[in-house]
Amino acid sequence: MRVLVTGATGFVGAAVVRALRDGGHDVAALVRDPARAGAAAAIGARLHRGDMLDPSSYAPLVADVDAVVHAAQLAVPGRLTATRSRRVFAADALMTSALADACLRHGRRLVYTGGCFDWGDHGERWVDETTPLTPSPMGVGHARQAAVLDRRHREEGLDVVRLSPGFVHGPGGLFATAFVDQARAGRLRCIGSGRNWWSCVHVDDLAAAYLAALEEAAPGSSYAVVDDEPLRLRELTDLTTDALGVRRVGTAPPALVGLFLGRTLVSSLTTSFRISGARIRSELGWAPARPRFRDAVAGTVAALA
Ligand SMILES: NC(=O)c1ccc[n+]([C@@H]2O[C@H](COP(=O)([O-])OP(=O)(O)OC[C@H]3O[C@@H](n4cnc5c(N)ncnc54)[C@H](OP(=O)(O)O)[C@@H]3O)[C@@H](O)[C@H]2O)c1
Repeated sequence: MRVLVTGATGFVGAAVVRALRDGGHDVAALVRDPARAGAAAAIGARLHRGDMLDPSSYAPLVADVDAVVHAAQLAVPGRLTATRSRRVFAADALMTSALADACLRHGRRLVYTGGCFDWGDHGERWVDETTPLTPSPMGVGHARQAAVLDRRHREEGLDVVRLSPGFVHGPGGLFATAFVDQARAGRLRCIGSGRNWWSCVHVDDLAAAYLAALEEAAPGSSYAVVDDEPLRLRELTDLTTDALGVRRVGTAPPALVGLFLGRTLVSSLTTSFRISGARIRSELGWAPARPRFRDAVAGTVAALA
């Protein structure tokens, strides 16, 4: 396959590029700055400079590939305020719409990346692909695109597959910056009681799910991509500090953390998402190589060191 990957320098997108190249596929990598895309270039991806806000910089690329993976997310420096979130959602809407138009025009598959915040807070209840999306503040944009893409599949025949990853861990991304780096600097706190559930997935297992979605999924399907053992945020925090060999941390009130990180982010991090991954296992035969965060975290910490 020839696959266009947006966000190819990101935590998720870079893993997808690696998995595609390992699988012998041809990758067109959309990047903002080719000078910072050495890793993708080194494994043989073709680099294309583009910006989410400028569809003319990427829509024409769709003609020359068999499928598109959309894993870009607008970079907005600073606290995640409601205004900045709206910019992130608007960029996603623009890019998703332009990619969907181009995929329809050329008869290509679009694999869209949603996320665990799209379901909202479900307390102790399990959620899956049949649970209506009542998003947390950070999931609003993805939930909107999910509705649009499902409608365009039904009404226009768009070949779309939606993936909704749990919290993605591995050597990079938010796990590195928000957990490991903060713990090493003595700044990590468990936000709120930590009794809320987090479903997780290792970044390399997630990348394998994109390959399965590209190769095996039915048009219009959607899959949660999570490992086998949701954890409460408190336990995830403790497992991380234990793996780092540092003292377990105390809690911080969400309202206080919100002043530094932004209320939008904090009120999403404190929601409970206990997600079942049964559908992707049974329909696509995908299974995580790292089924439990608790067994993977030591390897991640070692890789980050
Ligand atoms: N990480 C998680 O735990 C998680 C969980 C569930 C869902 N997701 C979803 O997965 C997707 C990817 O997340 P991620 O963690 O991989 O994010 P990330 O590491 O921040 O990567 C974002 C990517 O988008 C690119 N980008 C930013 N602004 C751009 C612009 N104006 N034009 C073109 N590209 C731009 C970035 O390029 P630069 O390298 O140049 O900045 C980077 O390649 C998002 O939709 C996210 O909601 C993530």
